[in-house]
Amino acid sequence: MPKQLIKIDVKVAKADIMKLKVDCLALGVYSDAKNSEILDSLDKKLDGAISRLKKIGDFKAAAGSSIFLYTHGKIAAERVLLVGFGEIKKACSEIFRQANSKIAFEAVNLKAKSLAICLHYNEPGADFERIGKTVAEAVHFGGYRYDEFVTQQENGRSNTFSVTLVNDNQKNVAKLSKGIKVGQIIGKAQNFARTLCNRPANILYPQEFANQAKKIAAANKISCTVFDEKQLARKKMGGLLNVGRGATNKPRMIILKYTPKGRAKNKEPIALVGKAITFDSGGISLKPATDMHEMKMDMTGGAAVLMTMEVIAKLKLPVNVIGIICAAENRPDGASYLPGDILTTFSGKTVEVLNTDAEGRLVLCDGLEQAKRLNCKTVIDVATLTGACVVALGKHKAGLFSNNEKLAEKLEKAAKDSSEPVWQLPYEQEYIDEIKGKIADLKNQATRWGAACNGAAFLGEFVKEVSWAHLDIAGKTDPAESMLKYTTAGSIGFGVRLLTSFLTNEVI
Ligand code: BES
Ligand code: MN
Ligand code: ZN
Repeated sequence: MPKQLIKIDVKVAKADIMKLKVDCLALGVYSDAKNSEILDSLDKKLDGAISRLKKIGDFKAAAGSSIFLYTHGKIAAERVLLVGFGEIKKACSEIFRQANSKIAFEAVNLKAKSLAICLHYNEPGADFERIGKTVAEAVHFGGYRYDEFVTQQENGRSNTFSVTLVNDNQKNVAKLSKGIKVGQIIGKAQNFARTLCNRPANILYPQEFANQAKKIAAANKISCTVFDEKQLARKKMGGLLNVGRGATNKPRMIILKYTPKGRAKNKEPIALVGKAITFDSGGISLKPATDMHEMKMDMTGGAAVLMTMEVIAKLKLPVNVIGIICAAENRPDGASYLPGDILTTFSGKTVEVLNTDAEGRLVLCDGLEQAKRLNCKTVIDVATLTGACVVALGKHKAGLFSNNEKLAEKLEKAAKDSSEPVWQLPYEQEYIDEIKGKIADLKNQATRWGAACNGAAFLGEFVKEVSWAHLDIAGKTDPAESMLKYTTAGSIGFGVRLLTSFLTNEVI
């Protein structure tokens, strides 16, 4: 049994920050704004320690910076943590979110058990409900550590991390509390998505993914059906089945159905389709050994779908949603599918396999077909599909492709709302022409130029009749270098916040 990860809990209190008995009291500071009243009075209590820091230049409150001060009993908290918000004119919700992640990140680094965050400056333009949600999500994001298989306790970390947001106005506190409830649900779900991604392939294989899905579904009154390899064969899901053929851990399709209790805003369900390759060795078209272990995270799309389903059930969103997770392990073996093979997919379309490492599209096309058969008219797939997408956009943004401009705009809005950025790339005829086959309907690889776009074009062939969007999240499995200031290495659980925002916006 792996050990429990740090349990993070966020709450709110109306309190005097000088009297809070916590391991750490944190405040955000602008580099160029006049001190807030609270900051001034804290500075006084600490005999001018904060202004002295600024004066000698050890802490200039640049965005992404932080410093600890020891209070020597001058206030109840053991330490004060100052984090930089940077210049006030550059303030935005992204910087506010990152600063709050940084607070949790630094506090956990010091093995703090209790943290208070003084909300004296706030997310620009946001109300306190929104602030509570953002800070709760950010605290979960920054406080997360993946150490469930570290048995040596030399890291000596606490099992719990209790965070209190502090404000001196009762009305604000009530709103914060409402926002925190939502933010905690999302933050916890995103962190569990990270854990699923961080778990190696010998722990999390397709059937185990299905077990986790069943457990989450049962706890949240979501229906869950799992097709094993026999059922996949009966249904003729030739994409998913063939990709999984080389592994002893056989493929699974996991179908989660969330139906709200009351009236739903949509009649035909929205489908979320996730790529869940629990390990992508490349198969017979084997990947190079360097960094191959990172391909345990090739199920990030599937994890995002599963945990989004949990979130919407917990939030009781009035919307019908079906989650479809295509889980397989891609390995070379005597039984593996081969370059040159022609597969008949669930849709009936045939595909010539030119590269067994272009497996994501082969498992997803069966998931997309399944979504259509379940009468979904809006279908969004999430997949770590191509290295080319990372080349195009770097690790800062996920690629977005769509056959419907309105749907693309909604996803762009959700990306802004959730600070999980996307950038639209072309879905157009030229790219579709490139993946048309010669001896089969389609081929699973075109040229190396624009491989993210021709990958998307391949998927589009299976969803012509419906509104469809494809999120290529290959660059968003783990943090960009710049994120390591406020979160740990490993999975970042991308997609949970984005898809949750999209679905939440659907019901407003
Ligand atoms: N899972 C990979 C894509 C990937 C690359 C994810 C880097 C995360 C980080 C995918 O299955 C793959 O191997 N794609 C190939 C497609 C090609 C053979 C058409 C690629 O990107 O090289
Ligand atoms: Mn691959
Ligand atoms: Zn892959």
